[in-house]
Amino acid sequence: MAALRTALHGRWVVQALPFSCGSLRFASSFKAADLTFERNPSCHPKPDPSKLVFGKHFSDHMLTIYWSEQNGWEAPQIKPFQNLSLHPASSALHYSIELFEGMKAFRGADNRIRLFRPMLNMERMHRSAERCCLPTFDKGELQECIRKLVEVDQEWVPYSQDASLYIRPTFIGTEPSLGVSRAGKALIFVIIGPVGPYFATGSFNPVSLLADPSFVRAWKGGVGAYKMGGNYGPTIAVQSEAVKRGCQQVLWLYGDQEEITEVGTMNLFIYWTNDKGERELVTPPLDGLILPGVTRQSLLDLARGWAEFKVTERTMSMKELLTALDAGRVLEVFGAGTACVVCPVGSLLYKGKTYNIPTMKNGPDLAKRFYKELTDIQYGRTPSDWAPLVV
Ligand SMILES: Cc1ncc(COP(=O)(O)O)c(C=O)c1O
Repeated sequence: MAALRTALHGRWVVQALPFSCGSLRFASSFKAADLTFERNPSCHPKPDPSKLVFGKHFSDHMLTIYWSEQNGWEAPQIKPFQNLSLHPASSALHYSIELFEGMKAFRGADNRIRLFRPMLNMERMHRSAERCCLPTFDKGELQECIRKLVEVDQEWVPYSQDASLYIRPTFIGTEPSLGVSRAGKALIFVIIGPVGPYFATGSFNPVSLLADPSFVRAWKGGVGAYKMGGNYGPTIAVQSEAVKRGCQQVLWLYGDQEEITEVGTMNLFIYWTNDKGERELVTPPLDGLILPGVTRQSLLDLARGWAEFKVTERTMSMKELLTALDAGRVLEVFGAGTACVVCPVGSLLYKGKTYNIPTMKNGPDLAKRFYKELTDIQYGRTPSDWAPLVV
């Protein structure tokens, strides 16, 4: 695949070339300065932050931005949270012309509200839009519209350093036609709502994983690197299979070598002593199979900044991992994502055998260190330009 080199934090990374679906009409964008605001006359009571269930609570307002081939982008609107009205032939409903993002706002120790590296979400959303042939937009303008939505609903950001406000930007094709073609109408909408801690007890509980090579999440040349709804629906049956076999999540493998790719909806990290006897943090590369996670990037940036051990993005096969586990060289395995920051892995079920992983038992607790570093930034305990203020 053709590749493009871009500079990122002083290093070079290889990214897929953006898809181009057409003409100059994609060049324009909506502007945050044109936002209109309609206040919700009936605001809802806020839920108790200690009883939050992920994805079930929504704030009083939402953001919508409509686009059509004929008229381009309309002015963004912040308005009362409400149902959408869609033509039943809308392309999102038939052909999954849909993409989304997941990000959070945090109320800090100083009562100020912060986002976490929001531009990385905007960039990923823009790449997903290009791949879906949806119209592009100015990433800074969308970030500013989202900031304003959070500002309007700031009382919905939990007064708790164990909870946060989840932000779900979504982009759908609304073309009212059954032809499999580029959408001539589209809608960006953003809904937000409070979420609790991923670990209900407040402490890390290592998860068990099913690693079954007969299930595949993404493939070379496919769309695994984009946050499209079509990547997620088909994983639910596999997740149910994992639960049936006594596991909590799925470790996605790929290809003849059974490459380790991702865990559920998290990127994967392995901290080990490599076969040269060096301490090394390994994570799969951005080769199109995995989602380029904001948390993944942040852990890599932190670890490279510490310069205390080797940090490597490379493929690792299941065989290599199991050999290292047998040799006692694996120190920690953990997932990384917005939902949990980091999530330790306790065991793997592979071809009928359970392999225990010593994460959190006698290891150096790298997962915990990452968790503390990132949550300190998110809640403003450590000042950082990764956490821009909302208000
Ligand atoms: C498949 C997949 N991998 C990894 C991640 C982690 O990404 P992030 O750190 O941006 O939340 C997610 C989370 O949305 C995901 O859905």
